[in-house]
Amino acid sequence: MKKLVVGNWKLHGSRAFNAELIQGLLAADLAATAPRADVAVCPPFVYLGEVVSALSGSAIGVGSQDVSAQAQGAFTGEVAAPMVRELGARYAIVGHSERRSYHGETDQVVADKAKAALAAGLIPIVCVGETLAERESGSTEAVVGRQLKAVIDLLGAQLVDIVVAYEPVWAIGTGKTASPEQAQAVHAFLRAQLVSAQAAAAGVPLLYGGSVKPDNAAQLFAQADINGGLIGGAALKAADFVAIARAA
Ligand code: 13P
Repeated sequence: MKKLVVGNWKLHGSRAFNAELIQGLLAADLAATAPRADVAVCPPFVYLGEVVSALSGSAIGVGSQDVSAQAQGAFTGEVAAPMVRELGARYAIVGHSERRSYHGETDQVVADKAKAALAAGLIPIVCVGETLAERESGSTEAVVGRQLKAVIDLLGAQLVDIVVAYEPVWAIGTGKTASPEQAQAVHAFLRAQLVSAQAAAAGVPLLYGGSVKPDNAAQLFAQADINGGLIGGAALKAADFVAIARAA
């Protein structure tokens, strides 16, 4: 399976910062130097159109960091999936742990967002992951299994069109990466759950996210069920993000 490396810029950027970062990414000619990876970046909503324009003609795709579960209506402050698609984005991250914890997004809301993204022609990148307390109490599989099940139950046959990202909350922005073996074990569990729901979901890319850096990316990406990465902090430095894409 071709690897997928996605940069989640989170709440970072400005026109000047984005221009410099994109210049660094374009200069790396990833289509030629990282031919085994599809690459995308997810800037804040307000920059989506500009970033799509700046990357047009390159091999780098664009995604949003979230999307509304609603297609339109009286939902002040929301951004709908058809709007994101219209601006030229290909992906939408849904259910990031920061959305789940700071914005109270439930498993059902996340599933609804994944469905809304698919309906608009976007590829949802559905994030799942356990907290440190959940891992230490031995409930990692129960937690990620429950998070994924909501999506499986709602999407039915469309399950084959999503991407899943395993992001252990304790590894995000902490510098603590899951070991390749820890990550692989959860990825294998997620793969089995997908396949038992839909045999064709064996082809769903499973990304790992959480303190992926140039020096640990290759080992993570070498695991059987790790098909790429969702990169936070290191996606804000062109040289680091390029190195990670090349590690794929
Ligand atoms: P870091 O790579 O900064 O740990 O962030 C991971 C993440 O949350 C990507 O969505």
